[in-house]
Amino acid sequence: KIVPVIMAGGRGTRLWPISRSSRPKQFLALAGRDSLFQETLQRVADSDQFAAPVIVTNEEYRFLVAEQAQEVGVELGAILLEPAARNTTAAILAAALYLKDKTDDDQVLYVLASDHKVTADAGYTDAVVQATACAEAGELVTFGIAPTESATGYGYIKQGEKLESGGHRVAEFVEKPQLERAQEMLDAGGYYWNSGTFMMPRDVFIAECERLAPETSAAVGDAVAKATADLDFVRLDKQSFEQAPDISVDYAIFEKTDRAAVVPSAFSWSDLGSWDAVWKVGDMDAGGNVARGQVTLSETEDSLVYSDSAHVAVHGLKNIAVVVSEDAVFVGDLNATQRVGDIVKRLKSSE
Ligand code: GDD
Ligand code: MG
Repeated sequence: KIVPVIMAGGRGTRLWPISRSSRPKQFLALAGRDSLFQETLQRVADSDQFAAPVIVTNEEYRFLVAEQAQEVGVELGAILLEPAARNTTAAILAAALYLKDKTDDDQVLYVLASDHKVTADAGYTDAVVQATACAEAGELVTFGIAPTESATGYGYIKQGEKLESGGHRVAEFVEKPQLERAQEMLDAGGYYWNSGTFMMPRDVFIAECERLAPETSAAVGDAVAKATADLDFVRLDKQSFEQAPDISVDYAIFEKTDRAAVVPSAFSWSDLGSWDAVWKVGDMDAGGNVARGQVTLSETEDSLVYSDSAHVAVHGLKNIAVVVSEDAVFVGDLNATQRVGDIVKRLKSSE
């Protein structure tokens, strides 16, 4: 069976002020009834296909994870707790080493982001089946999404030769390019966005980490060896884990490895990275507005108005984001909401 590994330790700062470090994006119901983490759990709940998922998260979110899993009735394999945020290379490797400790048989890991909106339609199921076959043949598999704009917040994958196991070799992987480079790749064609979710043979990933990210490998290796179990939680050793460099798997492994493959994927996907992305997947009225909470709109177009508390009335505006939480308000140009993360850095005290 495939072992789902869910990365649920991010902070989601660009969705301020609704997403906060005490309850980040993945634990919120931003576009639907359940939280994005709960939707992720439900996509891997089929026990014929998947083993019980392993969650990797920050110590701080342990109760959110346990409670939200219980709410949707998904039994977890383990909850690995990071004493500090060291990004996704360390997170995934911790899960891989923890699992290797349990069994020597190689396993295929389905590594998932916990904060994406995915429609699990036939295109999705197809992509998962193809990616599994490709991972079973030894490839570190990425899911390629057809790009629609020169976004700079994604990894770009250049499709190489076709592989026997289905999928294609990754000819080049460029994580978060500058705008100019992103535009060049979009114009050139033959590139995909990296969806941020992977299918990987556990032991190939562990070996690639040893080769390409030796410091992470050593630190996380120690942190897993010295981990302590406490009820459903597995606490990674603090001193060792803190030695791991803060680097994402995209930079540390996927930009460097020659073992990566891409499976072109035709499913509806959004990383809900910013308020304009939440607007795009929302229920739009005839004027192109998405409203949530107690909201009254007049002569307003193409806007997102989202309130978790006060009644909000908006009049005579276009292309605007108004987001109201219990203790903070954000108002801005809907097209520039990618940069909310920068404001949050200046607001650290109210985060
Ligand atoms: N456990 C744990 N620990 N999880 C983490 C950590 C951490 O330190 N940091 C981030 N995560 C989780 C996030 O919650 C999210 O589910 C996932 O890992 C990806 O992290 P992001 O920080 O959201 O990455 P990104 O969006 O900037 O970039 C990635 O996703 C893009 C698609 O959305 C990359 O893989 C890009 O290449 C990709 O295009
Ligand atoms: Mg993301």
